[in-house]
Amino acid sequence: MDYKQANFGVIGISGRGSSMLAELLSVEGVKVTAVCDKYEDRAQNGVKIVQEKAGNTPEMFLDYRELLKREDITAILCCTTWITHSRIAIDSMRAGKHVAMEVGGAASIEECWQLVRASEETGKFCMLLENCCYDRNELALFNMQRQGLFGEIIHVQGGYQHDLRDEITYGRENRHGRLFNFMNRNGDLYPTHQLGPLSKMLNINRGNRFSTITSMATKSRGLHEGIIENMPKDYDLKDHNFAQGDVTTTMIKCAHGETILLIHDCSLPRPYSRNCRIQGTEGIWMEDKEQIYLKDTSPQHKWEPFEPYRDKYEHPLWKQYARDGIHSGGHGGMDYLALSAFAESAIHDVKPPIDVYDTASWMAITCLSEDSIALGSTPLAIPDFTNGMWIDREPFRRGKYCLEDVCNEFYE
Ligand SMILES: NC(=O)c1ccc[n+]([C@@H]2O[C@H](COP(=O)([O-])OP(=O)(O)OC[C@H]3O[C@@H](n4cnc5c(N)ncnc54)[C@H](O)[C@@H]3O)[C@@H](O)[C@H]2O)c1
Repeated sequence: MDYKQANFGVIGISGRGSSMLAELLSVEGVKVTAVCDKYEDRAQNGVKIVQEKAGNTPEMFLDYRELLKREDITAILCCTTWITHSRIAIDSMRAGKHVAMEVGGAASIEECWQLVRASEETGKFCMLLENCCYDRNELALFNMQRQGLFGEIIHVQGGYQHDLRDEITYGRENRHGRLFNFMNRNGDLYPTHQLGPLSKMLNINRGNRFSTITSMATKSRGLHEGIIENMPKDYDLKDHNFAQGDVTTTMIKCAHGETILLIHDCSLPRPYSRNCRIQGTEGIWMEDKEQIYLKDTSPQHKWEPFEPYRDKYEHPLWKQYARDGIHSGGHGGMDYLALSAFAESAIHDVKPPIDVYDTASWMAITCLSEDSIALGSTPLAIPDFTNGMWIDREPFRRGKYCLEDVCNEFYE
């Protein structure tokens, strides 16, 4: 696409927001003219980042509703906390702006419907910035799956397995949002990192949908142990009974018979993994140890290393990205690609690759898993946020950042 320019506002400038703001400024066509955080020092830091990277001085806000009154702003990037980013996204759309928001789960189904209604009624999009959809392995695997290498997909799994004990327990000292969630909630609080790419593979909301869910949680020990080990003896949370189980396991059944297993595991000592597995009638891929087995090419009953397959089936977006040498980005480059996808859609006023139906159905897993756990792992129905359209949707928009198909025609 030929590039035009548009003005963006960025709301929520803590750790994540400041790195995403810096990244957004390197995307073609983006001008950041307003920044906001409820803490003045963080909002000021946003101003400084823009001045240093782009040379202009954005207007600074402490109240995002004031920022939304600016008519010159086309789109909002929202990097606030889990329990605030949906309402900011809804207000942004209602103020006539496209919005992308950082990942996290929903607190209620009502919140998801409000997102859908706001997008449908305003014609503005809401894109969950699920950067893992643009990770190198995920896109190569998507390319392989679309070429049929795994056959018909039967079962997939993924998770967020990340030792965040420090980030969570120092929540008050660092003014960070996660702590209060772990103190008060029990469910898959962060489902979308692997669910996003897997949903695209399974055509969720376009010919397939999530139908039912059930979840289970373990007891909670990790945060308590971490506090006893690292905090002063009189620390006020030392006897706190955290609500969030250390490991939550969620199963989702899809309309066409596939199952999805999701793990949330952030409060025990462990190396990082998104625990991905893709299994079909022709083969299987496992993230841990990066191994693959394909019925027709692998030695019988033996795993093979994934790297040669990744090289062979590299997604054209990553081929181009590697050729252009833009490897400075956060999380190995996927942040830059996710922001580029958002900016392209906002600047050209076209459909985003992750739309409000994806956003609502991926985020809904959090509150549904909380309800299922609270009810003794009761299976629950997952709402159809497309209201039936999943069986006959309007065509998706093809393009470089498309996540429904590999659009080779957009690459040289
Ligand atoms: N995609 C990824 O790889 C990735 C990585 C890290 C964090 N995240 C997500 O990014 C988001 C932010 O993460 P973080 O670690 O920076 O969290 P954080 O809690 O440190 O920061 C949130 C910021 O939002 C601000 N904020 C909250 N409510 C506001 C309001 N009403 N108006 C203006 N500002 C408001 C807070 O003051 C704070 O500065 C979270 O949703 C998190 O899950 C995503």
